[in-house]
Amino acid sequence: MQTLLHLLCFSYLIYTTMAAANGRPNPAPPKKIWLTLNGSQPVVIARGGFSGLFPDSSMDAYNFAQQNSLSSTLMFCDLQLTKDGIGFCLSNINLQNSTNIQDIFPEEGNTYNVNGIDTKGWFSIDFDSKDLLADKILLKQGILSRSPFFDGAKITAPMDLLSFKPPPRVWINVEYDLFLHQHKLDPAAFIAKGMGNLHPDYISSPEIGFLKSLQPTVQRGGPKLIFKILAADAVEATTKVDYGSLLKNLTGIKSFASGILVPKQYIWPVGKDGYLQPATSLVADAHKQGLEVYASGFANDNAISYNYSYDPTREYLQYIYNGQFTVDGFLTDFPPTASESIACLSQEKNSTRIQKTLIITNGGASGDYPGSTDIAYQTAIDDGADIIDCSVQLTKDGIAFCSESADLIATTTAASSFIEHSTSIPEIQKSNGIFSFDLTWSEVQSLKPQIAKPVPDNGLVRNPANKNKGKFVTLHDFLELAKAKAVGGILIIIDNAAYLASKKGLDIVGSVTSALNNSTLDKQPLKKILIQSGDSSVLSNFKNNTAYQRVLYIDREVGGVPNELAQEVKKYADAVRLHRNGIVLDYNDMFLTAKFSNIVPAMKAANISVYVGILKNEFTNFVFDYYSDPYVELATFVSAAVDGLVTEFPATANAYMRSPCTPTAKNLEYIILPVNAGDLYSYLSQLTGSAPAPAPDLPLIDTSDLVDPPLPPLSNDTTQDSGSPSTSPAPTPTSASSSITISTWTGFLIATISLYLALIRH
Ligand SMILES: *[C@@H]1O[C@H](CO)[C@@H](O)[C@H](O)[C@H]1NC(C)=O
Ligand SMILES: *[C@@H]1O[C@H](CO)[C@@H](O)[C@H](O)[C@H]1NC(C)=O
Ligand SMILES: *[C@@H]1O[C@H](CO)[C@@H](O)[C@H](O)[C@H]1NC(C)=O
Ligand SMILES: *[C@@H]1O[C@H](CO)[C@@H](O)[C@H](O)[C@H]1NC(C)=O
Ligand SMILES: *[C@@H]1O[C@H](CO)[C@@H](O)[C@H](O)[C@H]1NC(C)=O
Ligand SMILES: *[C@@H]1O[C@H](CO)[C@@H](O)[C@H](O)[C@H]1NC(C)=O
Ligand SMILES: *[C@@H]1O[C@H](CO)[C@@H](O)[C@H](O)[C@H]1NC(C)=O
Ligand SMILES: *[C@@H]1O[C@H](CO)[C@@H](O)[C@H](O)[C@H]1NC(C)=O
Ligand SMILES: *[C@@H]1O[C@H](CO)[C@@H](O)[C@H](O)[C@H]1NC(C)=O
Ligand SMILES: *[C@@H]1O[C@H](CO)[C@@H](O)[C@H](O)[C@H]1NC(C)=O
Repeated sequence: MQTLLHLLCFSYLIYTTMAAANGRPNPAPPKKIWLTLNGSQPVVIARGGFSGLFPDSSMDAYNFAQQNSLSSTLMFCDLQLTKDGIGFCLSNINLQNSTNIQDIFPEEGNTYNVNGIDTKGWFSIDFDSKDLLADKILLKQGILSRSPFFDGAKITAPMDLLSFKPPPRVWINVEYDLFLHQHKLDPAAFIAKGMGNLHPDYISSPEIGFLKSLQPTVQRGGPKLIFKILAADAVEATTKVDYGSLLKNLTGIKSFASGILVPKQYIWPVGKDGYLQPATSLVADAHKQGLEVYASGFANDNAISYNYSYDPTREYLQYIYNGQFTVDGFLTDFPPTASESIACLSQEKNSTRIQKTLIITNGGASGDYPGSTDIAYQTAIDDGADIIDCSVQLTKDGIAFCSESADLIATTTAASSFIEHSTSIPEIQKSNGIFSFDLTWSEVQSLKPQIAKPVPDNGLVRNPANKNKGKFVTLHDFLELAKAKAVGGILIIIDNAAYLASKKGLDIVGSVTSALNNSTLDKQPLKKILIQSGDSSVLSNFKNNTAYQRVLYIDREVGGVPNELAQEVKKYADAVRLHRNGIVLDYNDMFLTAKFSNIVPAMKAANISVYVGILKNEFTNFVFDYYSDPYVELATFVSAAVDGLVTEFPATANAYMRSPCTPTAKNLEYIILPVNAGDLYSYLSQLTGSAPAPAPDLPLIDTSDLVDPPLPPLSNDTTQDSGSPSTSPAPTPTSASSSITISTWTGFLIATISLYLALIRH
């Protein structure tokens, strides 16, 4: 850990030095108004430390939480006791899944009646501290979709937290006081005498009897007592009354506690459809009684409601900036994301723009609506996109319209209407497709646009309420929209030009040139016009008009560029667009390697802009370095000095671009730090043998990426048309543009995610 912290501190130093040298202070963020009980900023409570990344309650997890969260963050220790009464932190009384105990003591499992429920597993009360707290019992990640690579840490005693500088604030939870007493164990005695100089700021418990027994210590200036609320139908052990009923008597609770810790759904209920319902009055009612309210159950990989569009910060903001109330704190597995939500993000879409990196869409706001539809474009503009994109497709009768791919299966209802048009065109994509150029415009218009699954498919569903919303947009209408609206510019994407010309007699370049010329957008100097193609012969048609910026798409995995070749690019393009790992390499989609590629600096030296994409919010889309947090990825690419980011979630990019918490900001409570690529992997490599093998370096950009044969003449050559109607079963949707292979890890994730979601949704 020391090394990791050292590296992190080092990267922080670089940024603060840069700030001193050439950074200008960001405008002071507006003073925030908090509707907490006492008007202070809400607190972050780190459940078992940063348990979203490291094994729950490991020193790594606590240390990392302490280093990467607001300074007021509390370390949450769920106190367990050994047979001889020694306390340690772990979030479940059953050690089975969060330690290797089953391997070390296979015969020592047991069944206990814990508060009326027969529970089978491995219990600390069966083990002496010399067995349990010695080196052989090691912690492991209990949640399958999280990294197993940090497994093997020792169990943490509360006192161990005192080794941090400064010593952290600590929250102790005692879940089963009654059960422990039945086994002649006394957690209150351990808290009073067994923790040395560690004085917790908070003690919570779901048991009223336990909290009442502690009241005398509180009156002497001890910790705050918090009543932990369980499921509404669960029965409280002391009173035998269920929590739903107890919660109706807040005055009663105030007599023995200064606050409540409640699962978040008590505050913002989520319907069976996965959407948020109106807030309950719980926070306001509790505040009226002078009770603090802490909400639990927050995790970046626990995307519980569609209303948040998989942006985990939006969920926190829902609890702190809703115009009605602010919760007094969050219990979370991802304390850095809770910290940035509180300190760095506001719900004001029009707060000052700090970062100028262009926000370029992929199909408009296609994370929220069917891509390339009128509503996706309008939402993208409202969400703060700088550049909206139209990937131009042609119909059989030559109408140009916008759609992310020529194959309409993933983004429309084509598979249920025109399955007889399903064909295999290896020049375009590996799998069968139903292609726009085999349908007439009126046939296309008879389809409904569909919200696409994220690519690669990660098992998560996007906004089902918007599944079928929006209308198809012709290129002409798209250009009119861009002219009429306050948007910074457009990105026109031209794919498959050679195929369309030689096999379908369709002139996509001509269609685009005349529509653009007809639109007179190039006479509006304030709008940027980007023309993207993977084919440099297509781009050469746009060289003469200086209003056009030609973007060469490098649609394969590349990890660098020879400097002289970067100079060569200028002949063909003004910008390049890359996949994300062209900027910072990763190992098997899991960890970032130690270096950023030379592509950005080499292209900058050659006066070539660099755009990167596609960014998405879903946590399955991130290497572990990004903490399942889209803002950490955004910070990383922005600090790598790319010129534009292509995203399906412009609202998230826009929120980042307006956050004052940049690496060069001064005098702020919190900074959204870009990843120092390689830190996590090099730390991992020091742990015994658990690091994944490094992937080989990616190839460099070469001449074949730049030089393409001239476009063929128009011809209706159907002789080689592979478009014989397919009789095979419905093809599986795939992206036309993604050539990225889905790694085994992603496959593993997909397999485990549905299981995991089933577990955490309850
Ligand atoms: C307000 O309460 C929070 C805990 O909810 C505490 O951390 C903070 O110090 C309090 N602020 C004041 C001004 O009392
Ligand atoms: C441990 O994991 C198994 C298998 O995933 C699961 O059935 C069981 O409920 C888990 N036990 C606990 C205590 O989480
Ligand atoms: C609420 O609790 C208090 C204290 O335990 C008790 O005196 C009072 O009767 C309760 N009120 C109701 C409505 O149950
Ligand atoms: C959540 O989204 C649904 C569907 O768009 C909407 O009806 C509902 O009002 C939203 N809930 C909140 C609390 O914003
Ligand atoms: C937008 O900014 C202006 C001033 O810059 C402010 O008056 C207005 O309230 C803001 N609008 C919203 C919706 O926050
Ligand atoms: C050219 O622009 C005019 C007027 O905006 C429009 O009516 C016409 O359809 C456009 N033609 C093409 C080919 O886009
Ligand atoms: C562009 O449109 C104008 C009329 O608006 C026309 O005179 C000109 O020839 C067109 N240029 C090209 C290259 O099509
Ligand atoms: C570009 O301009 C040059 C010289 O003006 C001309 O010869 C050439 O045909 C033009 N190219 C295109 C694609 O319009
Ligand atoms: C860089 O390229 C842009 C066009 O992309 C051009 O306007 C500018 O003059 C170039 N700058 C230099 C220094 O070559
Ligand atoms: C291709 O065929 C279509 C209709 O069959 C016709 O309109 C078009 O002119 C042909 N194009 C070429 C280049 O032969």
